[in-house]
Amino acid sequence: MRTVREVKALRGVVASWKAVGQTVAVVPTMGALHPGHLSLIAAARAGADRVIATIFVNPRQFNKPEDLARYPRTEDRDAGMLATAGVDLLFAPPAEAVYPEGFATSVSVAGLSEGLCGAHRPGHFDGVATVVTKLFLMTGADRAFFGEKDWQQLQIVRRLARDLNIPVAVTGCPTLREADGLAMSSRNTRLSPADRAAAPALFRAMSAAVAAIRRGTPPDEALARARLEVLRAGFSEVEYLELRGAEGLEPLDAPDRPARILAAAWLGGVRLIDNIAIDS
Ligand code: PAF
Repeated sequence: MRTVREVKALRGVVASWKAVGQTVAVVPTMGALHPGHLSLIAAARAGADRVIATIFVNPRQFNKPEDLARYPRTEDRDAGMLATAGVDLLFAPPAEAVYPEGFATSVSVAGLSEGLCGAHRPGHFDGVATVVTKLFLMTGADRAFFGEKDWQQLQIVRRLARDLNIPVAVTGCPTLREADGLAMSSRNTRLSPADRAAAPALFRAMSAAVAAIRRGTPPDEALARARLEVLRAGFSEVEYLELRGAEGLEPLDAPDRPARILAAAWLGGVRLIDNIAIDS
């Protein structure tokens, strides 16, 4: 696996692949890789001739400077994992290669970015949309792979590719879970042992709500019960636990179209998110 840090070098490698008719997939990451990321790499390998992984801790998507500062940076370890997983090229640019002096453009996906995580992390999704747009344009990838765990992010990325006519096919890959149901996330390592033991309560409560709604329980009743269960398990705050349309993320009173329950909740100073389909 080759590592490049400059856009020119990246474009050179991609041009050489495309010149011989090879298709290219990209898996954008911020590093601190876990098996969930490796499942995206595996899907990318199955879906294209060549795979690029990117590692860039994007300053524009952090609301708080302290979160950016403490985000784990483990490039050597990550690069080893990516090489073993069969990635062809790692693009790990410095911040100046992505946001040069005078950078003044922002991509904002209205509507989809506003509720759920967007309501609690102002500017976060504009930062994500801007960097993902740049990564699509810099790599020129034909396909891109994102985790369904960040469901709102996935819908935003699909929409920006469509709205801006970027010729990349975006694929969502299923959330990988620990044996006890906790969605894999680089944030899980920040949980204390006691909080790690309590954390699966979020998925358990959401799964129980999904089952109840499928049985005909009114969604507000099922969601209120789930909220209570999460708080009883030791979470300090439920930011949201809602039923939304799967694609447009519109609030729903009933699952009368493809729908998902999405949640964000705080446990011991760590913000966990998850989502589950109602109709699967
Ligand atoms: O999901 C992430 O890791 C990030 O939001 C992404 C898509 C790599 C953009 O920085």
